[in-house]
Amino acid sequence: MIKLTVNGQPYTVDVEPTMPLLWVIRDVLHLTGTKYGCGMAQCGACTVHLNGDAVRSCVTPVKRAENQTIITIEGLSTDVTHPLQQAWIAEDVPQCGYCQSGQLMAAAVLLKEKPNPTDQDIDDAMSGNICRCGTYQRVRKAIHHAASLQKQGGTQ
Ligand code: FES
Ligand code: FES
Repeated sequence: MIKLTVNGQPYTVDVEPTMPLLWVIRDVLHLTGTKYGCGMAQCGACTVHLNGDAVRSCVTPVKRAENQTIITIEGLSTDVTHPLQQAWIAEDVPQCGYCQSGQLMAAAVLLKEKPNPTDQDIDDAMSGNICRCGTYQRVRKAIHHAASLQKQGGTQ
């Protein structure tokens, strides 16, 4: 049995310690906002927060997350009030949407670490998040937008 805290909820899961965290999140906890893209830490679709850091859950053994704090896209905010969510809607960022939860989770760590990111900061932080639809320019614009919302007193 492995104990996890996901989006503030405690869980005990009966899985192999080597099972990727992504499968626990999706198949055991049924939180399907986090996506499987490559399974090899190459695309960023599976990005979640582990103790505040962005990690690739497809290559993170669940054992590594035991007794740690995990936040998935479902926990970024409970009511779509996170500045990034607001900016994503305002800038109409997603196309097919598949990569977007990973993009948002990566961007959330960037904004926490750099509240006023430059284009270069954004490119550096987001370069590991692949978007087959090519939404990169809108992602960048929305991160700037979210930074300004955050400055104006966004909720997180
Ligand atoms: S699915 Fe994890 S990085 Fe692609
Ligand atoms: S919006 Fe389609 S892969 Fe990014």
